[in-house]
Amino acid sequence: MNSQLQPSRHRVLGMALASPIIVGSGLLSDQAKNIRQLLAHGAGAVVTKTIYPISEKKHVERIYAIDTGLLNNTTYSKHSVERWLELLGQFSHEQLPIIASVHAPCPEELGELAAKIRQVSDCPLELGISCLHADDFTEDTPERVYDYANSVRQQTDSLFSVKLSLGQKLQERVQAAMEGGAQAITLSDTISGMAFDRVNGEAVLGGICGYSGPGIKPLVLAAIYDLRQRRVNVPIMGSGGVQNGMDVHDFLLAGAETVQVYSALHKDMFLTLRRIIEQYQIYCNRPKFMEALE
Ligand SMILES: Cc1cc2nc3c(=O)[nH]c(=O)nc-3n(C[C@H](O)[C@H](O)[C@H](O)COP(=O)(O)O)c2cc1C
Repeated sequence: MNSQLQPSRHRVLGMALASPIIVGSGLLSDQAKNIRQLLAHGAGAVVTKTIYPISEKKHVERIYAIDTGLLNNTTYSKHSVERWLELLGQFSHEQLPIIASVHAPCPEELGELAAKIRQVSDCPLELGISCLHADDFTEDTPERVYDYANSVRQQTDSLFSVKLSLGQKLQERVQAAMEGGAQAITLSDTISGMAFDRVNGEAVLGGICGYSGPGIKPLVLAAIYDLRQRRVNVPIMGSGGVQNGMDVHDFLLAGAETVQVYSALHKDMFLTLRRIIEQYQIYCNRPKFMEALE
């Protein structure tokens, strides 16, 4: 298979990506400089840190490494909506492949935020509505997913993905996202996790927080595979525990169209991204792999 033909395989949210490897939303994508450099190092696209109408923090945000990944209690971008509108306008002008991650306290406000972004950019959106450890989050339900997605659809013509977490009623939540107008889903956001300090016995980062990294990869693969077995055919951006190029392939084999990488980049961000992309390209040229994707 000629690797020059690969870009056409990786279309999502109206974008034809030069690589299926997208940098996921997180602290690293809260800075314009990082976003530009991640793209320059070969990312197919970058998802911004989740933009939220209220940017003050109610608690100290931190990351804690465990054997199988990361725990984090971070929530939304520390930059204001106004700052993001300015940046997204610039990115649009530069024609950079950016996906703006957005959330708001209620569906109406998310629709308003989406409409403001549409005025400065035609970038697609990722609705980051399923952060399980956020202060305003109780339970994800198909109704909640539909309400957020539908509000965005009502107030803008932007293409969007709904980012979901693994958990109960996943297929129903995916269905609700599609009925609400989503053109893709992103699976998965972090899942609930915790750890205890071995010295003082206290929960680290104050209790239940977001768990990401290699430990969640088999769970996310199984969920994507299961959706495909059930004939759910919405485009999926897989996200969870990608560490190397072979992990990217695993997600594509499970049924994802594109693959997001995040936690791995917390170590040697640009080098790690390049390594993953190079490994993916080398692996791609193996004839057996290409046959499996046909
Ligand atoms: C420190 C940190 C911050 C994150 N912030 C966000 C965020 O603002 N919005 C979001 O949708 N996902 C956020 N995520 C989730 C990641 O984008 C990703 O979906 C998840 O961590 C699973 O992928 P990974 O195992 O490759 O990290 C964050 C993850 C981490 C570790």
